[in-house]
Amino acid sequence: MVIEVVQQDITLLDVDAIVNAANTSLLGGGGVDGAIHRAAGPQLRQHCRRLGGCPTGGARITPGFRLPARWIIHTVGPVWRGGDYGEAALLESCYRNSFRLALEKQLGSIAFPAISTGAYGYPGEQAARIAVAVMKQHELRFQRIIACCFSSADVDLYRTITR
Ligand code: APR
Repeated sequence: MVIEVVQQDITLLDVDAIVNAANTSLLGGGGVDGAIHRAAGPQLRQHCRRLGGCPTGGARITPGFRLPARWIIHTVGPVWRGGDYGEAALLESCYRNSFRLALEKQLGSIAFPAISTGAYGYPGEQAARIAVAVMKQHELRFQRIIACCFSSADVDLYRTITR
């Protein structure tokens, strides 16, 4: 059982990479994006400015700067628009592309927030099922895969799905 479900502020996790639920500008925002930029410090935004943004479903990797995590993988989740606009496929590609970048750097541990389920309005259970399905497909490739929840409701949801 390598998928860990925790309730924690993802900026505090001492792992190889934390994943950020970013927007296409990569220049910061609210929610977990805001927390990560605040904790990583101003160098993160300066670094991201040179990346030229990121499309929805895509992912980019940066150093963690002042974070305990060595790397940050920024991925842009889909905005929920009812489910008929390819949202599920885009959310799945967020997880797949994040894992791909982590594998390229041969990272051993990675933590994900519940991408798109905050400001972007993705229904929590549907998003968690997509997340866990991709995590399970990568279980053998990492020492630690962490679903970093911010609410106890999400912890319950992820624990039920990963059981
Ligand atoms: N640690 C872990 N999870 C967190 C944290 C944190 N410090 N802060 C918020 N979360 C959780 C939220 O509770 C939610 O479950 O992260 C999940 C994703 O919520 P958002 O951060 O709102 O991200 P998202 O729904 O993908 O919307 C992205 O919001 O902040 C802007 O720039 C961002 O435009 C982008 C959009």
